[in-house]
Amino acid sequence: MQTPQSDPTGDDWHPVCQASELVNSGLACSFDVNYAGQTCRAFAVRYAGQVHAYLNRCSHVAMEMDWQPDRFFDLTGHYIVCAAHGAMFRPDSGQCVGGPGRGGLMKIETEERDGVVFWRSQYHLKPVQF
Ligand code: FES
Repeated sequence: MQTPQSDPTGDDWHPVCQASELVNSGLACSFDVNYAGQTCRAFAVRYAGQVHAYLNRCSHVAMEMDWQPDRFFDLTGHYIVCAAHGAMFRPDSGQCVGGPGRGGLMKIETEERDGVVFWRSQYHLKPVQF
């Protein structure tokens, strides 16, 4: 695993997993973040060849969405679905497209570099300190 690299803006990149672990519409790689002072789960998925990451928090009720650990896609493989009440989200944007969701998912910037997926911290989104 590579060392995270600093960014000129002061935001940093943090490793999530090996890029090969994420297959199109397959299992997610989950990771912990500190969001606005709270430890939360986040996840990265691959859809149509691109990696996308989101806070694992539904826009309907602030709860985790996977119906089994790291399973977010519906049976078509084209939507992220919340296990609680069925809200559906676009995997490439997090936009809510059905069900009781109240807006989109919170997207986390990602990058693939040298076979590794990284997420980028921001002012309200930081790595968890141990
Ligand atoms: S908590 Fe996700 S749809 Fe209700």
